[in-house]
Amino acid sequence: MAEGQTVSLHVCVTCRAGEAERDGMAPAGRRLHQQFARALRERGDGDWIELKEVTCLVSCQRGCAAAVSTPGKWSYLLGHLDDSKLNDVLTYLRIYRDSKSGAVLPSRRPASLQDAMLGRFPPLTPPPDGAS
Ligand code: FES
Repeated sequence: MAEGQTVSLHVCVTCRAGEAERDGMAPAGRRLHQQFARALRERGDGDWIELKEVTCLVSCQRGCAAAVSTPGKWSYLLGHLDDSKLNDVLTYLRIYRDSKSGAVLPSRRPASLQDAMLGRFPPLTPPPDGAS
């Protein structure tokens, strides 16, 4: 039972994505988090995507980073993110949500995310419905 589950999206708000630190300019990751928040409001996806802030996912050399997780499913670390991939990340999250295990074949991922999958982590809890 994948539909109806909430997907957590932790966006690293301290990622600089290679940008130099400048007064008054938020880090690239902070700006990306704000763009996700705006997109979720506009698209009405905020009822199933829980957007959270996190500081450093230890992928600092790989652009902006984010983590995707749902209890009972594989979790994924994404990198090389920027605002041009925002809609594709949201598309990926919908496919992830609808996947029983959280696994999404590379052929089903949006093309812009082919280099974005940096790692995955096994479920810490059993699926809510007991499925494997
Ligand atoms: S600052 Fe974002 S992964 Fe390290």
